[in-house]
Amino acid sequence: MLILAIETSCDDTCAAVIKTEEADSNKTDFNSVVLSSIVSSQAKKHAQYGGIYPSLAAREHEKNLPKVLKIALKEAGLKSPSDVDYIAVTKGPGLAVSLWKGVNFANQLSEVYNKPLIPVNHMEGHILSNWLKPVGINKKINKKENAQFFPSVCLVVSGGHTELILMKDYGKYELIGKTRDDAAGEAFDKISRILDLGYPGGPAISNIVEKQSSKIKNKKPDIKLPRPMINSKDFDFSFSGLKTAVLYLAKGQNQNSKNKKIPILLKAQIAAEAQDAIVDVLVSKTIRAAKKYKVKSIMLSGGVSANKLLREKLVMESNKEKIPVFIPELEYTMDNAAMIGIAAYIKVINRDKEPKQKEVEANANWELV
Ligand code: KG4
Ligand code: ZN
Repeated sequence: MLILAIETSCDDTCAAVIKTEEADSNKTDFNSVVLSSIVSSQAKKHAQYGGIYPSLAAREHEKNLPKVLKIALKEAGLKSPSDVDYIAVTKGPGLAVSLWKGVNFANQLSEVYNKPLIPVNHMEGHILSNWLKPVGINKKINKKENAQFFPSVCLVVSGGHTELILMKDYGKYELIGKTRDDAAGEAFDKISRILDLGYPGGPAISNIVEKQSSKIKNKKPDIKLPRPMINSKDFDFSFSGLKTAVLYLAKGQNQNSKNKKIPILLKAQIAAEAQDAIVDVLVSKTIRAAKKYKVKSIMLSGGVSANKLLREKLVMESNKEKIPVFIPELEYTMDNAAMIGIAAYIKVINRDKEPKQKEVEANANWELV
């Protein structure tokens, strides 16, 4: 089975082709391989606005969709969309104007080439990105083996979302916590803007921390930020106070500077503390949720899951609790269409009631649970 997947929920225009097949007659073993995964990032174009500029995103998607489709098909060794069995597309959640560009494009392909459509939830895509191997490498999916990892607690952290989701089985999700204001990625982006480090903020912050690591090894005791809601009994998050705290901290520490520009070393010290604060809260709450719900595994995903410190700390703390932890390949942490393809395939093999549709409508607020 060949699935062509399209993803345009935010500012990345993505197309991918996934090949899947049954590996045994009982239909419990499946092989899946990503044949191509093309991402056209608009990050540089949005950087001048310090965040996503919706009408620019929509225009770029329209321009880039035919291009990424062409490359994705070519790299997969296919001539046209008529060679695939299904077309999967992100229905939501996301930015409405962006989602509609991908959905309309997929609807047109479906009509012209007479292919069934599979609408996919972006969050489910992120979660199942844990099942993806790099392009060209086979991944065996064994339904029984996978069942041993459920229930799983999934920490989905991106620019738009910070959620703790209890995954009881494929297609069975329960939301156990979410951010009450800014998402973790948004916090990285806003803090990076305060420190004038660039956009997207996550990589900018971890880069400066890494570059200056030898100089900031010993933390200044007066550079301290709060860990918002770390001790709250629920599993919700709140990151908006953190950026205000960074603003005051930067101002307070920089009082003596004549030209008001924050020196690089101070920037790195604040960036390191902000990163520590975000990671501490994310890891602490995930582990507490894992223990409370007695889960069999932990799954990390979303753009922020590219963060090295978050990956390392989550693995370390999960190991202490002897809970298996899944971390996506770096290339699938940010938005991509391969994760939409694998989520569509899992819907097909689990005989989701209505995975195939003739026409998809975007839903910017589509809840997974
Ligand atoms: O999943 P994603 O590509 O798009 C959304 O669905 O939002 O996530 C983008 C977010 C941005 O906020 C970016 O700053 C953050 O992921 N991010 C990181 C890192 N790489 C990307 N945050 C922390 N550390 C990183 N290394
Ligand atoms: Zn995303």
